[in-house]
Amino acid sequence: MMFERTVNKSKAWKKLEGHYKHIRKMQMRDMFAHDADRGLKFSVKLDDTLLLDYSKNRVTDKTMALLMNLAKERRLEDKIKAMFRGDKINITENRAVLHTALRNRDNHPIMVDGKDIMPEINAVFAKMKKFSEDVRYGKFKGHTGKKLTNIVNIGIGGSDLGPFMATEALKKYWMKGIHCSFISNIDGTACAEVLEKLDPETTLFIVASKTFTTIETLTNAKTCRKWLVDALGEPAVAKHFVALSTNTQKVKEFGINPENMFEFWDFVGGRYSMWSAIGLSIAIAVGMDNFEKMLEGASAMDKHFQTAPFEQNMPVILAMLGIWYNNFMGIHRYAVIPYDQYLQYLPAYLQQLDMESNGKFVDVNGEYIKYATGPVLFGGAGTNVQHSFFQLIHQGTETVPCDFIIPAISHNEIGDHHEILLANVLAQGEALMKGKTEKEAAEELKKAGKSKEEINFLKKFKSFSGNRPSNFLLLKKVDPYTLGALVALYEHKVFVQGIIWNIDSFDQMGVELGKQMALNILPELQNNIYDLKHDSSTNTLIKTIRSLRK
Ligand code: F6P
Repeated sequence: MMFERTVNKSKAWKKLEGHYKHIRKMQMRDMFAHDADRGLKFSVKLDDTLLLDYSKNRVTDKTMALLMNLAKERRLEDKIKAMFRGDKINITENRAVLHTALRNRDNHPIMVDGKDIMPEINAVFAKMKKFSEDVRYGKFKGHTGKKLTNIVNIGIGGSDLGPFMATEALKKYWMKGIHCSFISNIDGTACAEVLEKLDPETTLFIVASKTFTTIETLTNAKTCRKWLVDALGEPAVAKHFVALSTNTQKVKEFGINPENMFEFWDFVGGRYSMWSAIGLSIAIAVGMDNFEKMLEGASAMDKHFQTAPFEQNMPVILAMLGIWYNNFMGIHRYAVIPYDQYLQYLPAYLQQLDMESNGKFVDVNGEYIKYATGPVLFGGAGTNVQHSFFQLIHQGTETVPCDFIIPAISHNEIGDHHEILLANVLAQGEALMKGKTEKEAAEELKKAGKSKEEINFLKKFKSFSGNRPSNFLLLKKVDPYTLGALVALYEHKVFVQGIIWNIDSFDQMGVELGKQMALNILPELQNNIYDLKHDSSTNTLIKTIRSLRK
């Protein structure tokens, strides 16, 4: 069979376009009414860790079969093998993509440029284990001999969002007396607000930067270094600063001894790096044993992804449903709603993972793309978001597919809080799917004693169109293993979509232009340069800012 380079001209794609015309008017409430097993049929489990119920989607058996056919046509199976094997699938940077090697728990050799990378990975994990234990148990002390109890991760993007999200998710596992903070934004307020609460004698700064050239991180690190040196003197740096990076030279230049550096490698992308040395703050907070449990959970998902048939494969199913909405139903957005306070930063983490990976308009052949790629992702913790943007999700003119993530058991089973939370998330899914017809709304109004006029006026406002899709990801509890599996699930989902869209999901050239331009504008803000060569809007803004700051 000839491989059609342009996915939207392929046979499988065309079939899906045709199929959409047949099912676009179908209502999920009817699908459930006609098939008592739908909930079960459209569910997949990963052991006792995770259940994905995707029955509340606008799909039939045929839709799923056609979607899986598209995945097969794009040779997804080969692409999965290529990633895990270490092929250089990040083609624009000529790099392997091997965050999965970090959770290669059976330690089989993985070759990059003819060399097994596992010994180096294991050595860094051993160094992390020793260091995290030494900090946790007070063996590695601060310059003045005090225990280091405040851990501050300085990083941005992938060097911040992963450890931040995961330490918050695993807060219940933090060692007593250890506290983690995160400084990412270049806004001086981020530094000021964290430092204000800290004592230099008990603070450990972790400077996390893959490149060690990121202006935000280096500026924040310099400010923190000065704060420490002003209080304890230059020699204190060796006991209060460590670096996580791929760039030994730059770490040295910054003034951190490479002995205090935890290495990772080009084959670990920034937004895929929480499993590497970038996770040091997680390891210190929750212990290396729990960090390893997180790797185990991710590893279980890796195995599932590599071995489960597509029809039973969670990342593939989630990805192909996303393709269905994005490319065939014209829905270019989705929301992730964790119903668990500890997972409140997961949507922010997933925003980088998804939008930085798949927000691309050029395919791997170097051609501009004529179909939709990465969707807009947003979210927040339930039930809070029910009282903010859920109005639009229920009654807006835009459809927003939702992923609801919910643990059956809470870490804080206080009274009936968790049951109320569970009832709410289940109700959201059901309400979005079923909706409420005008007739049903009118009946309710009648029962409530409203007049005929009131009923006629209000029934439309009180109706819900329904047929709005959602996935349920049910966890037993938010623990390190489950968190690992959950994050790996989304990583692989994003990978699958990148394969279907024929893009390089592992570079991020789109963030460069703004960075370059900021470097040009900086001296213009700092000095009174009169000959500004920007557009008239930027010129005026620069001049106004300069005069306001005088
Ligand atoms: O936002 C662009 C980016 O390169 C991300 O991909 C990365 O996670 C972040 O900046 C931070 O980069 P670094 O770890 O090199 O400081």
